[in-house]
Amino acid sequence: MLSSGVRPPALSTAVRSLQRRSGGGVRDFQEIPHTGSNGWINLLRFWKDGRFSLLHKHMENTFRCLGPIYRESLGSQSSVNIMLPTDIGELFRSEGLHPRRMTLQPWATHRETRGHCKGVFLKNGTEWRADRLLLNKEVMVASAVRRFLPLLDDVAQDFCRSLRQRVETEGMGDTDQRSMTLDPSPELFRFALEASCHVLYGERIGLFSSSPSEESERFIWAVERMLATTPPLLYLPPRLLLALHAPLWTEHATAWDHIFSHAEARIQRGYQRLQTAVGGASDGRFLGVLGQLMEAGQLSSELIKANITELMAGGVDTTAVPLQFALFELARNPDVQEQMRAQVLSSWEQASGDPQKALQGAPLLKGAVKETLRLYPVGITVQRYPVRDIVLQNYHVPAGTLVQVCLYPLGRSPEVFEGPERFEPSRWAASGEGFRSLAFGFGSRQCVGRRIAENEMQLLLLHILRNFSLTVSSTEELNTKYTLILQPESPPRITFTTRSL
Ligand code: HEM
Repeated sequence: MLSSGVRPPALSTAVRSLQRRSGGGVRDFQEIPHTGSNGWINLLRFWKDGRFSLLHKHMENTFRCLGPIYRESLGSQSSVNIMLPTDIGELFRSEGLHPRRMTLQPWATHRETRGHCKGVFLKNGTEWRADRLLLNKEVMVASAVRRFLPLLDDVAQDFCRSLRQRVETEGMGDTDQRSMTLDPSPELFRFALEASCHVLYGERIGLFSSSPSEESERFIWAVERMLATTPPLLYLPPRLLLALHAPLWTEHATAWDHIFSHAEARIQRGYQRLQTAVGGASDGRFLGVLGQLMEAGQLSSELIKANITELMAGGVDTTAVPLQFALFELARNPDVQEQMRAQVLSSWEQASGDPQKALQGAPLLKGAVKETLRLYPVGITVQRYPVRDIVLQNYHVPAGTLVQVCLYPLGRSPEVFEGPERFEPSRWAASGEGFRSLAFGFGSRQCVGRRIAENEMQLLLLHILRNFSLTVSSTEELNTKYTLILQPESPPRITFTTRSL
């Protein structure tokens, strides 16, 4: 639907200068195609049609109908949505020194009403930048990656050992080729939590033992509930829901309370352990991100807690879910799986147990992670408020407008990717990226857990490919649902067959 009968307002100097730059003819903001101008009616339609859980498909269909840019109002939120790399480049070039995303108001309200500090996820401006630069030193820079890579490798190897043992004892077939079909998602969630804790606290929490702790299972459950209750709350004022004791708000806030108390307990244990074990001095040992931040002494303990809690909450489902998709795609693409395994085996042998060398020698692993996130971006949009007026698709977009990069339609667009339906890790080897691989966001505000997530996922795939052949009984597309993260409607069942090592 194209908006009609809108009289363009008088042109500002900024727009006139944009027009000169683009050779004239820039169209007014109001002329951007839209999905209906009344946000509250749109929101009602969303509720009625259950469209929240299919937001990614809704975006794909809307681009198909309206073209590569559209406006959408939902409740109190309005955004311009884009999906083509040229527009995305223009947006990110105007993000400024302190890029801002859409605020997840329910999360912010939880912190404010409970008196918790905010971490980088929820902060903006100079406060955000100060915390972020300190965190980057512990989780993003190359020296930090070198410190935590062996910890992730330990967890990935243990995961495979434990799964192998299970397939060998409970599976069917010859002793050297036992097979078992299972939904690996509960194990993948435990893997992601174990890996996070090992990196954050420098400590193993024993989730691959026969009886994983109830505390950890509750944490995994709480993160899932917190994520699932976020999207419907995004478009309504949380304070009003709070005042009304709306059940959805109560469920959301209770889930966050569990996450906080779990993180608080782990952090307390971490503090005690670090103080008694090393008396404050590390002797060059890696103390986990918590210990490193304590030792650096530049963030207050309240801010350390706030940021570590965010890293805990942001670090489990975001990696466990894409791993389900990756295993499914490998299982239904046996040629890709074989090609990757050949590269992995040769690289592993040459690396003599050094995980960094092993990953460097097997670039298809990196390609597989990118390819998985292209088809199944765990966060379906990246958002920015440009700090200056810009032109997108020849429409004027004023500074301060919420613009969303829609990753699901981008990743599946035949205009951007050749054969977008194919799972081809090798497609990332040659070409430059040019605003096409954006699952972790972009620039100084990109995902702070990116290096943890990429390495954690690559190492798990490496050891799975060494240990098992993967197959699935049906190669049909997986149905997906959006619950703040994109996930399978029902987790895929995968057949794991042991390989001799
Ligand atoms: C495949 C896994 C993951 C994906 C696809 C992902 C994606 C994203 C995206 C798209 C953003 C917003 C970036 C932007 O605005 O440019 C983000 C931010 C963030 N992520 Fe991740 N993430 C993943 C894993 C993780 C992990 C493992 C952690 C914690 C260890 C984490 C913690 C965070 C935090 C704290 C932020 C906020 C950063 C800031 O605003 O400065 N994420 N992530």
